[in-house]
Amino acid sequence: MSNYHVKAADRPQALTGEAIRALRQRQVEGISRRRLLRVSLGGGLALWLTEVTAGSIGFLWPNLAGGFGGVLEIGTFDDVEAGNTDIPWTEGFPAYFPHARAFVMLIDPARQQFIPGDDESGDGTALNVRVLYQRCPHLGCKPNPCLKNFWLECPCHGSRYDRLGIKAAGAQYGPAPRSMDRFAIRVEADGKLIVDTGKLTLGPLPVALGQPGIIPPRTPTGCI
Ligand code: FES
Repeated sequence: MSNYHVKAADRPQALTGEAIRALRQRQVEGISRRRLLRVSLGGGLALWLTEVTAGSIGFLWPNLAGGFGGVLEIGTFDDVEAGNTDIPWTEGFPAYFPHARAFVMLIDPARQQFIPGDDESGDGTALNVRVLYQRCPHLGCKPNPCLKNFWLECPCHGSRYDRLGIKAAGAQYGPAPRSMDRFAIRVEADGKLIVDTGKLTLGPLPVALGQPGIIPPRTPTGCI
């Protein structure tokens, strides 16, 4: 014998006026349309508030925790030299600092020191050091310093910059519209370099090779 018991379906009743009234007065089964609307609106609002809160924390956290977006310490001349013995940093070659998302380079390698002072513009000439944001001004890739020619070269579309981040003018040197952007810096009395990654100055316009203001590449060919 089978375990299934087939129940007879409810017989539909004629929709008389009385039956319709009874149906209207009957408690709605499951969830009503009004309640569904309220739950959906409440859920949407809660989700939006969560997103806004998480976004704000994500934005503020690096600044609060001393991460990118805030004021960061790079170190003294000796610190940078000691941490970059594998590259010719003392000759003016850019050294990379991931926590600051920046390249640090001497302006004049003949002067083997940082000069104490403040530079909001990030030019760095008076302090003998410049700190460049790692982002290529074209579409945001990270240019790489090339040991061969001492330039920075963007692997994405071939924009080329001298070792101080000045973009070489001309289509053959890539599509970036300007030189690399600079962070505001400070060298303290004890020689410690501090970078404010929340203050960025846009890089100047490209300079034609052979003109003052751009350092020629050491070799005619580079790394890309
Ligand atoms: Fe650097 Fe396009 S992103 S050249």
